[in-house]
Amino acid sequence: MKSIAVFASGSGSNFQAIQEGIERGDIDATIKVVVTDKPGAYVTERAAAKNIPVLALSPKAYDSKEAYEQAILAELRKNEVEFLVLAGYMRLIGATLLEAYPNHIINIHPSLLPSFPGKDAIGQALAHGVKITGVTVHYVDAGMDTGRIIMQRAVDVVEGNREETEAAIHAIEHQLYPEVLKYLFNSSENRVR
Ligand code: GAR
Repeated sequence: MKSIAVFASGSGSNFQAIQEGIERGDIDATIKVVVTDKPGAYVTERAAAKNIPVLALSPKAYDSKEAYEQAILAELRKNEVEFLVLAGYMRLIGATLLEAYPNHIINIHPSLLPSFPGKDAIGQALAHGVKITGVTVHYVDAGMDTGRIIMQRAVDVVEGNREETEAAIHAIEHQLYPEVLKYLFNSSENRVR
């Protein structure tokens, strides 16, 4: 059973999908802590409803990114967290966490990478007029959405309709992220050591 932390900055619907995958018995993991850089984010309420502790630290309260990540790292170590799952965490991971968790951090991004990295991937896809976009789960490296791709799924763009496109992407995310975690943690090949 993997001990994981989920990092989120917003609503936390992906956090919830992962937790429900664990509750169904699909994912061999336990979420030790939800880490957020936005103390008021809705994910904190979703975590409380699932009785999962929240670490809410505002980066502004720290002198540097390193100091901020050291504070997170201390809590992750206390909880013996082995693997980090970014789910709408809108901040680049720095050297402190990357060096502490080499190849043990993954992220979900709402586009078919390498298209549309960074902020507002869905808006970028609509602005470019692409007909197909999608969802990518990938390992995290020092770049912006550049790490090795684990799984992707395509989603049709609903032309000129951001709301419907977004809803279709979220629905796929809520299937894909639990599937990836199941694949990584339950494999007899032990894909994550
Ligand atoms: C998700 O769509 C995720 O792919 C995106 O933020 C949303 C979070 O939703 N992440 C990024 O854009 C990362 N660059 P949630 O808080 O409801 O899980």
